[in-house]
Order: sequence, then structure tokens, then C-alpha cells
Amino acid sequence: MKPDNPQTYGTVSRCLHWLMALCFVVMFGTALAWNINEDYFSLMGIHKNCGIALLVLALVRFVWMHVNLRRRPQHNIIVKLGHIALYLLMIAVPAVGLIRNIGKGAPDGSGEVEWMVQLGNQWHGELAIALGILILGHIAMAVVHQIKREKIINRMLG
Ligand code: HEM
Ligand code: HEM
Repeated sequence: MKPDNPQTYGTVSRCLHWLMALCFVVMFGTALAWNINEDYFSLMGIHKNCGIALLVLALVRFVWMHVNLRRRPQHNIIVKLGHIALYLLMIAVPAVGLIRNIGKGAPDGSGEVEWMVQLGNQWHGELAIALGILILGHIAMAVVHQIKREKIINRMLG
């Protein structure tokens, strides 16, 4: 198991990064599927379970990032702000989804908490779309820097 160092990310950071990236494909894939065809609302169980797993992983990753902050590759302020925004949304999107789910109460509608449902209705989809756009920008920048021979993808892979 390699630790983080100023040139590359270590084993744990890489596992978290790629496992979570895979989960995000499931999250956006399921949401896209039911937006195209309502029948795919049947995928909601997968969406919720994978989303809750992502919330736990994001919190673990947030702590891990802080523990290793001084060891890992250093970035300029723009990149730092981009990564901070990714972290905020990686936590906020599933948290708001889960809050709405809890606020819905029992299946018969009893115990519904209005503000929790409202919060989810107003923000879950919007913030998820913002996160999706940010992820696309993040991937684009990684590819651009890789092509410019800075080889930054090698920090996370290989
Ligand atoms: C990082 C994790 C998550 C991502 C990236 C994500 C992403 C999305 C996206 C893109 C949509 C479609 C929005 C739209 O059509 O405008 C959506 C909808 C939905 N999500 Fe999530 N989600 C996550 C976690 C969760 C969790 C943890 C729950 C519940 C426990 C949840 C429950 C729902 C529900 C019920 C909908 C349909 C209603 C709506 O559009 O707001 N999601 N999600
Ligand atoms: C094909 C998909 C992806 C590629 C090629 C990619 C590439 C990279 C690379 C090369 C780095 C290192 C940047 C550096 O140190 O200069 C990195 C870091 C990072 N990536 Fe990605 N990434 C992908 C998907 C994602 C996704 C889906 C997320 C989150 C939603 C994400 C969040 C982050 C964050 C927060 C960092 C900072 C390091 C950390 O705290 O883990 N990435 N990514």
C-alpha cells in the first residue's frame, strides 16, 4: 500500500477516487434512464442505495483528504477551488436526497416532514446537475493536461 506523496496519489486515495467515479456513473446513468423513459423509475432502489454508499464514501474521503493534505500533489488556487466545490457537492447532493427520503415518513404518508421534502424537491436535482457539469469540466481539464504532456492522469492511475 503506497501512501500519498507530492508526485502521485497513494493506494487508498486512488481506490476512493475510482470507486466513487464508478458509482457516479451509476447515479447519473439511472437518473438519465428514467428521464428518457419513466419505466426506468424501477432503478430508484439502486439509485438510493448507491447514493447512500456514496455519501459515506464522500465523508471518509473528506477526512482522508485532510489527513494527507500536506503529503499529496499541491495545486494552484483555481484547482483547489474546483476540488473544494467537488467535495461540497459530493456531500450535499446525496445528503439532500437522503433528507428528503427521511422526510417522506412512512409509506402511508404519516410522519411527513414538510421542510425536508421541500429541501429535496428544490435542491437535489439542481445540485446534482451542477455536480455533473463540474465533473465533466474536471474530466476535460484532466485530459487537456494529459495531452499537454503534464501527465497528471498518471497521478491517479498507473
Ligand atoms: C451523489 C449521489 C447522487 C447523485 C449524483 C444523484 C443524482 C440525481 C439526478 C441527476 C437526478 C435527476 C434530477 C432531475 O431529473 O432533474 C436525481 C433524482 C432523484 N434522486 Fe438522486 N442522486 C444522488 C443521491 C440520491 C440519494 C442518496 C437519494 C435518496 C436516498 C436520491 C433520490 C433521488 C430521487 C427520489 C430522485 C427523483 C426526484 C428528483 O428528481 O429529485 N438520490 N438524482
Ligand atoms: C474519467 C473520470 C475522471 C478522471 C480522468 C479524473 C482524473 C483526475 C486526476 C488526474 C486527478 C489528479 C489531479 C491533480 O492532482 O492534479 C483527479 C483528482 C480528483 N478528482 Fe478526478 N477524475 C475523474 C472522475 C472524477 C469524479 C467522478 C469525481 C467526483 C465527483 C472526481 C473528483 C476528484 C477530486 C475531488 C480530486 C482531488 C483529489 C482527491 O481529493 O481525491 N474525479 N481526478
